[in-house]
Order: sequence, then structure tokens, then C-alpha cells
Amino acid sequence: MSTGSRNEETRRAFDAAATDFTALGRYLWSPIGEATVAAVGPRPGDRVLDACCGTGASAVPAARLVGPDGVVDAVDVSGPMVEELRANAAGLPQLHAHQADVTAWGGRGYDVVVSALGIFFFPDMTAGTRSLIGTARPGGRVAFTIWRGDSMVAAGRHLRQAVAAATATEPAPERKPHLLDEINQAEPYAGWLTGLGLSDVDVEVKELRLTMTPEVAWLVVLGSGFRGALATLAPETVDSVRELYLSSLREAGIGELDATTLIGVGTAPR
Ligand SMILES: C[S@@+](CC[C@H](N)C(=O)[O-])C[C@H]1O[C@@H](n2cnc3c(N)ncnc32)[C@H](O)[C@@H]1O
Repeated sequence: MSTGSRNEETRRAFDAAATDFTALGRYLWSPIGEATVAAVGPRPGDRVLDACCGTGASAVPAARLVGPDGVVDAVDVSGPMVEELRANAAGLPQLHAHQADVTAWGGRGYDVVVSALGIFFFPDMTAGTRSLIGTARPGGRVAFTIWRGDSMVAAGRHLRQAVAAATATEPAPERKPHLLDEINQAEPYAGWLTGLGLSDVDVEVKELRLTMTPEVAWLVVLGSGFRGALATLAPETVDSVRELYLSSLREAGIGELDATTLIGVGTAPR
């Protein structure tokens, strides 16, 4: 798949998820976004870039911390996500929401650069992350958050099986091997970030387990990139997928979903 079509597929999955993304946020995106921002602690008056900002899980707390004298440029490739962020950011004029591919963002000199659960969507994760580091001022602080190990994997597996059963097709293949598979533990992740030129690298493990009530389990599908798996299905097929997915989780005894993340922080080259 070409870089352009991979970007397009990512954008479409998140376009569809925007409203449910906010609904899932209180269980998943907000605690992770807040921890990501806390790890670098923006100060009043700071200029912050929030890359792959979604509906504001990290951009909103960052905007509160920098206050009216600061700036948060929050960038996401999905128009509906940016619209949802604008609604969530009422009363925070220092938060500027932009629809753009952040790997081509022209802003420079940020005191703080954050990206929560975004960098592994870049068609070239290493080049894209390097470009984000290049937007920080010399000595600026950066925080990039990724999933740890098998976080979220069980939900994807049961969803793929449910889609296959509802459509009488073979289950979609697991995603292709990805750099994330090699660096999704604290030590290799720290090594990779250091290799990108960051100093004082530290990786914080943020433990999180979601209690999979039927409401939360289905929101995990509707309010995340998993939503892309439903994109071409008729509404009645989506209803069948929901029933099959929930019963499959129940039969497998999955009452909790691991949603642990690694928050990698470091200092940009001086
Ligand atoms: C899992 S969501 C995380 C959103 C948010 N940071 C949070 O933690 O709630 C990933 C986001 O990355 C965005 N994204 C993926 N590739 C992007 C790119 N090249 N430029 C900007 N945004 C991108 C998607 O549109 C999506 O909103």
C-alpha cells in the first residue's frame, strides 16, 4: 500500500470515529493524554505542539497549563476530529486546532512537543517522529506515547472474528509486522528515542486496564481506529458484529482490556 493511501485509510477510520472518540475518552484517551502532558509539564506561556491531537485528550490539559499567554497548536489529519476538538476546547483561545498531516507541519521552536498514541500511524514511524523532534526548540521537551506490548490486541482479535462471522468471510489478517512490535517495551523504546537524537530519555509505564462492560467494549470499537473495520458494512451487519463481538469476549472471559502505554520523554538536541 502506498504512503498516500495508508494516510487516507487512517484518516477515514478516525473521521468516522470522531464523536464516539470523545465518548471513549473518559475511559481511555483522557487518562493517557493527561499523563503524557504531565510527563513534560508545560509551563505558563509555553508554546506547545500536540501532534495527532484527536479530540483533545492531551491538547486541552496542555492548553490549561500554558494559560492565556501560551499557545497550543493541536494538529490532526482528520477534519471531524479537529471539529470535535474545537467543540471540546471552547473557552481556551490559546488552543489552535489545525487539520493537517503533522509530519509536514511547518511550525518550529516549540518549548514542548507531545504526541499521544499517534506516531505509529505515520507511514514511516522513524522519519515522522524525527520530523516532530525537529519542531522543538533546542533543549525543548518532547513526550511520545505508544501502546505497550499486547495492549488493545485482544479487542482487535475478537472484532476481526466477529466481522468474519457476520459477513461469512475469512477473518482479516493480523496487521503486518511493524516497528512498534520491536520497540513496545520500555528498554527498546528508550533506545529508539535516544537514537533519534533525544537526550535525558526516560520511559514511564502508565498502567491502565479497561473494565469491559458491554458499553465500554463497544465504545473501544466505535471510538478508536478499530472503527475502520466497520466502514463498509450495512447497519444491520454492524448490529450482528456488535452481538458476536460482545458474546465472543464474554465466552473468552475477557472482563478487562490491557490499555497500558509507554510515555517516552526526552530533550531535543541543543
Ligand atoms: C489513537 S488517535 C490519538 C488521538 C489523541 N492524541 C489522543 O490520545 O486521544 C490517533 C490520531 O492520530 C491522527 N493521525 C494519524 N496520522 C496523522 C498524521 N500524519 N498527521 C496528523 N494526525 C494524524 C488520527 O487522525 C487520530 O486522530
